[in-house]
Amino acid sequence: MLKQKINENNQVSIIIPTYNESKNIIKILHHIGEILPKNISTQTIVVDDNSPDGTGKIVEDYLKNVKKIADNTIEIIHRKTKDGLGSAILKGIQQAKGDTIVVMDCDFSHPPQIIPKLIESIKKYQYDIVVASRYIKGGKIQGWSVKRKIMSRFATLIAKKGLGIDTKDPMSGFFAFKRSIIKGLNIDAIGFKILLEILVKTKGVNIKEIPYTFQNRELGSSKLNVKTILDYYKSVWKLYRYGKPLVKQEKRSSVKFLSKAARFYTVGASGFIVNYIISVLFVGVISDMWYLHATVIGIIASITTNFILNKIWTFEDRDFGIKKTISQYGKFVIFSSLGALVQLGMVYFLVDNVEMSYPLALILAVIIAAFGNFVLNKKWTFKEKLLS
Ligand code: GDD
Ligand code: MN
Repeated sequence: MLKQKINENNQVSIIIPTYNESKNIIKILHHIGEILPKNISTQTIVVDDNSPDGTGKIVEDYLKNVKKIADNTIEIIHRKTKDGLGSAILKGIQQAKGDTIVVMDCDFSHPPQIIPKLIESIKKYQYDIVVASRYIKGGKIQGWSVKRKIMSRFATLIAKKGLGIDTKDPMSGFFAFKRSIIKGLNIDAIGFKILLEILVKTKGVNIKEIPYTFQNRELGSSKLNVKTILDYYKSVWKLYRYGKPLVKQEKRSSVKFLSKAARFYTVGASGFIVNYIISVLFVGVISDMWYLHATVIGIIASITTNFILNKIWTFEDRDFGIKKTISQYGKFVIFSSLGALVQLGMVYFLVDNVEMSYPLALILAVIIAAFGNFVLNKKWTFKEKLLS
């Protein structure tokens, strides 16, 4: 504790990520400069991702000409490629010297007049995190389409319910915090939502929300796209698992082996259902395809769903790198075909040579072929040790 006190330096670092903000950046730097409380020292850090519109160069030129004020410095970090908003902010945080950090957008959606209030809440009232909030009384959003509003509300709901967050606007891109609270944390900074990650990983700290009006940008365009949205759900999933003690890990390899085999069989059974439904659909309901073609489509569909389920569930492999997944899928298809042949041969042998009844022979053949399939896929497709 004592050490912390000595380290406190009273400085505020303001982090502004930019990508193609040539029309906004200088204006916002001016505004911020005017609004900052005079009694504190600030370090403004622009983190630019090599914007094609020259934002980085514009800031460089500006810094060359602007009168330097010792207590209010501006600096810029140039990153080589567009690596996402969250990681840009993280980069800024790593370079920040202040004990208080403010994060805001560059496009005037986040009114600079709020900055002094954020700083005050931390410095004077000793909150750990202060969120400029659209979703508390007095806050609002202007200029967003209904679609974007619904998306934001939905994402917020998921964060609150799924991750147990009380903050009303955990998706805000406008916030401040004491740097000490993230010390030692591992921040992934996937996608846009770094505040959400900080909230999840620092549970128990004092949080305050200050209302503001989010004004949609007038210049330039939003960088939110499908990837941002996918990244969001990816990060929620990761955060959901964060800190949760993993279900007690089973150590006995025999149990692990059998439980995976059981999953593999379950997936196989689901494949039958998929196969049946798809074939029937194609032969009668959505088209009147020749029944053999429909059967082939049914088989392909069920092999595919089996593959996906086995990958995610049975073998818990969530790496969907394109090359890797395609090669796994290839092996899976080969082993499935092999399994089908083995099954066929075995039914023939059992019925014709052993004189077993057909239903019994079929069940036995399916169980054995599927087991062989399981072992092959475990070892070669998903590269696991046989017994694990
Ligand atoms: N360096 C860098 N790299 N900056 C980026 C990147 C990137 O990949 N993507 C976006 N930015 C910068 C933009 O230049 C802008 O200053 C800021 O990050 C926000 O980007 P916008 O594209 O304007 O986002 P938005 O308006 O759709 O959403 C913002 O507001 C929401 C509500 O507060 C973001 O701040 C969201 O995180 C926030 O939820
Ligand atoms: Mn914006």
